[in-house]
Amino acid sequence: MKNNIEGLFKTSEDEGREKHVPVIHCPENVEKGEYFDVTVVVGEEVPHPNTIEHHIKWIQVYADFENKPPIHVATFDLGPSFAQPKITFSMKAEENIKLYAVEYCNLHGLWQDSKAVKVV
Ligand SMILES: [Fe+2]
Repeated sequence: MKNNIEGLFKTSEDEGREKHVPVIHCPENVEKGEYFDVTVVVGEEVPHPNTIEHHIKWIQVYADFENKPPIHVATFDLGPSFAQPKITFSMKAEENIKLYAVEYCNLHGLWQDSKAVKVV
């Protein structure tokens, strides 16, 4: 049994990462208050199976700040077989943030990755 929630998440250090880590694509520098596109891809290096028996169930994105609690930015609920685990949306930031993407594979659990975004 894991004794904290951090232990639930697998990362780019873990076996199976090629098919599971949610890779975040977005600018490293953005304009304050201006919308920018964020794309999260699961299975970018090696495609993840996409069947009813084995698929990516959902992808979530959070923004973390230096001096306040993180916020939920987006949740994408994916149906197996038809929906590719690749999502794109627009968001804005008023200050520097660290984006966290989390995905859930119905057989291999929770996976995460992060990317810093600087507001200029
Ligand atoms: Fe999987």
